[in-house]
Amino acid sequence: MRLNKFISTAGVCSRRKADELIKNGFIKVNGKVVDELGVIIDEKKDSIEVEGKKISLPLSYLYILLNKPKGYACTANDEKGRKTIYDLIDLPDRLFSIGRLDYDTEGAIILTNDGEFANRVAHPSYEIEKEYIVKIEGDIKESELAVLRKGVVIDGERLPRAGVKLLNFENNCSRISVVIHEGQNHQVKKMFEAIGKSIKLLKRIRIGNLKLGGLKRGEYRFLKDLEIVSLLEAK
Ligand code: URA
Repeated sequence: MRLNKFISTAGVCSRRKADELIKNGFIKVNGKVVDELGVIIDEKKDSIEVEGKKISLPLSYLYILLNKPKGYACTANDEKGRKTIYDLIDLPDRLFSIGRLDYDTEGAIILTNDGEFANRVAHPSYEIEKEYIVKIEGDIKESELAVLRKGVVIDGERLPRAGVKLLNFENNCSRISVVIHEGQNHQVKKMFEAIGKSIKLLKRIRIGNLKLGGLKRGEYRFLKDLEIVSLLEAK
């Protein structure tokens, strides 16, 4: 296996960043600094250190889909001491979430101990579609939906286009489906803020072809092989 792939799969960083670490002399293979790119290592025998710390690959790879409830942070250690998604998962391995959902957002989030997979799927160039259900108080005009579709302008910068559809209007609330190729933090909230609407509920229901389906809040399930492949192939 290539050294940069090993470092990425072990969850240290992306392959590109691994190349930087290698070039800057931060990586040792069997106790010796390796600072050239393209080196092949034997992942079963060689000992790899990143800045003096030995790293290893997981014994088996885990990929799960969690239905994150609101009121959980997507970090391992929340600086405010709040509950985190890791309180919901009772697996022995250290998992990384692919992207993040805000504390008050609920819905689909993928976690894995395969750092290479996480880096690939999270990379903006992958442009995986994410679908959200947004609930706002009151109605929303077709002209406002059109602004969201075109991409709202914030501080002179246009956010990317979005697929936006009004699903229904009931009990003085509008339910809207929003499909984005996520690039920015709080992207959906920013979109609605820009048209003067505050979000009452934000839920991610789909990542690529992967749907939340009947998964209950706070529950998770393992991904099927085909689902893993489909995420790697998604565009
Ligand atoms: N957009 C947001 O504003 N928040 C999220 O949690 C996800 C997408």
